[in-house]
Amino acid sequence: MSNKQPYIVWTEELKTDFPTIDNQHKKIIDIANSLHSSLGSENLQELINIHLNQLKRYSAVHFGFEEKILQDHNYFLLKEHICLHDAFVGQLIKLEKKFSSLAKNSPNILVYEEVELFAWKVIKFVSQWWLHHILVEDKKYMNFLQKIADTYESDS
Ligand SMILES: [Fe+2]
Repeated sequence: MSNKQPYIVWTEELKTDFPTIDNQHKKIIDIANSLHSSLGSENLQELINIHLNQLKRYSAVHFGFEEKILQDHNYFLLKEHICLHDAFVGQLIKLEKKFSSLAKNSPNILVYEEVELFAWKVIKFVSQWWLHHILVEDKKYMNFLQKIADTYESDS
């Protein structure tokens, strides 16, 4: 591990009121930050594949967990929210395919700059997608769940 500053810094505004969801979001951000701190490593090509794989596996765990909560509460935008999650997974798979075809086209070793550029592509995509998703899309269901909680409270 290098002592570089993390690329994405966790801030209070990313909190969702669900500690488990927050921890899952933090874990995904950690993976993106870990890829960022891998820049400059000799085996970056291998590390990109490892990180893409981790992102795919861990996002699936998180999405499944979150979708279950939203389903249990009959969230009215559930379908749309699932579509957003699926789109993220689709983009990751696309990136993975792009990266492996890049490697296939250069049977020897890829030019390091090319690998680094690709790592940046992944880091930027993942950070932009997640920051937007947490701050905009996840906030929508939080407002909804909050309203439900308030209704229960005022009923009792
Ligand atoms: Fe979400």
